[in-house]
This record gives sequence, structure tokens and C-alpha cells, in this order.
Amino acid sequence: MRNRELVPFRQRVGRAASGRVLELGIGSGLNLGFYGPDVTLVVGVDPSPALLRMAEARSRGGRIPVELVEAAGERLPLDDRSVDTVVATWTMCSVGNPVRVLREARRVLRPGGRLLFVEHGLAPDPGVRWWQNRLTPAWKRVAGGCHLNRKVDDLVQAAGFRLDDLRTGYLPGPKPLTFMYEGQARPC
Ligand SMILES: C[S@@+](CC[C@H](N)C(=O)[O-])C[C@H]1O[C@@H](n2cnc3c(N)ncnc32)[C@H](O)[C@@H]1O
Repeated sequence: MRNRELVPFRQRVGRAASGRVLELGIGSGLNLGFYGPDVTLVVGVDPSPALLRMAEARSRGGRIPVELVEAAGERLPLDDRSVDTVVATWTMCSVGNPVRVLREARRVLRPGGRLLFVEHGLAPDPGVRWWQNRLTPAWKRVAGGCHLNRKVDDLVQAAGFRLDDLRTGYLPGPKPLTFMYEGQARPC
């Protein structure tokens, strides 16, 4: 997750976020240094206490208040329409039920609020997809539940979002792991 190739994605997400931000699967807090002046609060949700401790250490002394919550995205302990931006970076591959998590994101977003996402997932090339489908059962056991074969734009739309922007493409590296979906969406 500390790969330098990912930094430009984190910079774009951080610049685009505004107001009260919910970060789904905040992990060790690697996006925290990239949020811009329009962000007033980051609520970071993650089920891993160990990663939350790392995020807490990273948040110390920062300009933006950060609240860290141990929870799964499938059941967010937040009020309806209570955040302006939801951020998910490389999280939907690991959650148990991505559509449920995204429906929760939709519930807590205010009308007109935005979901900003960067995720790896299902590639368009049949040969790469074949490997993604073949590898995922073993890969998810050794890589923290990570699925290689989720079609992120379909999941976002299935949860009740309209896509405003979507960019896709491979990063350098093994193709089954590096097909990226970067986009913005709003509740329909
Ligand atoms: C690959 S890491 C990405 C971490 C971080 N978003 C980043 O960009 O560095 C996936 C994260 O999703 C979290 N996660 C796993 N299951 C989850 C769930 N059901 N709800 C929310 N987060 C979850 C993991 O604990 C982990 O922090």
C-alpha cells in the first residue's frame, strides 16, 4: 500500500475531498497526509484495531481532526446524510460484501455528496480475467480477503450511485493485480 505508484492516486483523491470525510477501510492512514484545506474532519472506519493504531499515530499533529472508529463498512455507526465525501482506496477488494458497504456509504452521504474511489479489480482482457478468477480463491486466503475479480463500476452503480467520472487502466506490474478503477459518483 506504500507503493510510490499509488501516490498520484492518493493526491488526486485528497485534493478532491471536501467537508466531513468518511474514509472506508482507512487502514494505516496512508491518505491522511494528502487531504487538502477543504477537508474539515476525517472519520476513518476499519475493522482492524492494529491498523487503526497505526492510523492514530499517523494522524497525530495533523491539521485536520481525525476520528477513528473500529467497525465494518457493512454496518456504519454514522447517521444518515452526515458526511460530505466518502473515500475508498483499495478497500472494496477486501470487504465481505461490497454492495452492502457501498449502500451504507450512500446512506451516510448527504444529497449531492460524492463517493471518491480508487480500487483494483476485474480487467477487461479475457486472458487476464481468466487468471483473476482462477487466482482469487487462493489469493484472498493469503492477502487479507483481497479479491482480484470485482468489477468496481458495476458494484458502485448496483449500490445506487450514478458515476460522474471513471478512469481505468493498468499500472506497471502483474496484470491480474494492477487494473485500476478511479472515479467519482453521487447518490442517484
Ligand atoms: C488493502 S487495505 C487498504 C487500506 C487503505 N484504504 C489504503 O488506501 O491504504 C484494505 C483495508 O480494508 C479494510 N477492511 C477489510 N474489511 C473491511 C470491511 N468490511 N469494512 C471496512 N474496511 C474493511 C482492511 O482492514 C484494510 O485496512
